Amino acid sequence: MRPKIVLTKDIPIQTVTNALLAGQVIAIPTETVYGLAADASNEIALKKIFHLKSRPENHPLIIHITTKSDEESIAHSWLNELSRWSRDVPPEAILLAEKFWPGPLTMILKKAVHVSDLVTGDQDTVGIRAPNHPWTIDLIRAFGKGLAAPSANRFGRISPTCAEHVFEEFSNESLSEPLLIIDGGACEIGIESTILDLSRLTEIGPVILRPGMISNEQIMQVIGRDIQYQSHSEIRHSGGMLGHYAPETQLQMKSVATLIAEDFSIGKTIVASFASVKELKVLWSNPNIFWHQLDADPQKIAKDLYRLLREFDHMNAQKIIFDELPQGVLWKGIHDRLTRSVYGSGQS
Ligand code: TXA
Ligand code: MG
Repeated sequence: MRPKIVLTKDIPIQTVTNALLAGQVIAIPTETVYGLAADASNEIALKKIFHLKSRPENHPLIIHITTKSDEESIAHSWLNELSRWSRDVPPEAILLAEKFWPGPLTMILKKAVHVSDLVTGDQDTVGIRAPNHPWTIDLIRAFGKGLAAPSANRFGRISPTCAEHVFEEFSNESLSEPLLIIDGGACEIGIESTILDLSRLTEIGPVILRPGMISNEQIMQVIGRDIQYQSHSEIRHSGGMLGHYAPETQLQMKSVATLIAEDFSIGKTIVASFASVKELKVLWSNPNIFWHQLDADPQKIAKDLYRLLREFDHMNAQKIIFDELPQGVLWKGIHDRLTRSVYGSGQS
C-alpha cells in the first residue's frame, strides 16, 4: 500500500479525527517539520508510529496540544492544557507558553500519571508543544485530545518539510494500513522545535536539549534564568544522537575559503557556499563541481535546509560540501542539525 497525499482544503477535519479515533496514524503539517500523528492516549496507535519510523520504543514522543480557542491563548488556558499531561507545572512554563506558543518550542515537564510509557520512553517526564499551523490547530481542537507526533521521517533520516518528502520517506515501505499525508504546504520554520527541559528546575535549572529557532537568549529574557545546554544527556532523545538527520551522500562542512584541489578528486561534488558562487566558478573552473548559492539569513537557511539536503542527495554526487556557517545565536539550531547530518551521512 502506498501513502496518499491530500490537500488540507480537500479533506473534512472530521474525516481525520475519525481516523485518529480509529487508531490510525496521519502525517500532519506543522510550522517546524511534518509529524506522524496519533492519539496520544491510544497505545496501539502509538506503537504504529514506532513501527512505521523503525524507531526504538524507548525514544519518547512529543505531545501536541492547543488552547480551546484563539481568544483563550492566555495563562490559565495554557495551564489547563498543560495540566492534562503534566504535574507540578512551573510558572516558567506558563510564561514561555504565553510568549512562544503556538510555536517552535517543546517543554519537558514532569508527566501526569496517566501518560503512556510509550509517549515518555518510560521516563518520569513528558515533552509538550503547541504547533503553529492553522489547519493542525483546528485538527487538535476538533479532536479534543493530545496528538503524539514525532517528525515524519524514517529513524535517523532527514525530517520532511513538505508533504512530498513524507511520501518519499514511506513510498517504498510495505504499509499494512493506509497512510494519509495532509498537505499543508511547506513548513515555515524548517527545523525541529527547540527542546527545553523544565523538569529539573530546582536541581539544575532550565536545560536546552535540542537547539532550534527559538534561542536560549530569547528564553532567558522571558524567565530571567541562565540556561544550560546538554545535548548528550542521560535523557534519551533521538535528536541528541550523533548521526541524525542524515543524507545518503557523504556530507562535509568546510569553509569554501579553504577548498583545495583534493576536495574534488572524488568526482562529482556539490558545494553550497555563502560566498559568491559567481566568483568561485571563475576561481575553480572544474566541471565536476556543482555550485549552490546560500543566503546568509538563518531563517531562510533553516527553512530550506532539509529540502536542500534532500535535493543534493538526489543528484548522485560523490560528496556534498556545505560552507561553514556564520557565527551567532540564530545559527545554533542549524549548526546542530548540520553537524549531525555530517556525522550520519554517506550510509546508503
Ligand atoms: O518540531 C518538532 O518538535 C517536531 C514536530 C513534528 O512537532 N517533532 C519532532 O519530534 O521533532 P521527534 O520525535 O522527531 O523529536 C522529538 C525529540 C526526540 O529527540 C525525543 O526523544 C525528545 O524530543 N523528547 C520527547 N519527549 C522527551 C522527554 N520526555 N525527555 C527528553 N526528550 C524528549
Ligand atoms: Mg525526529
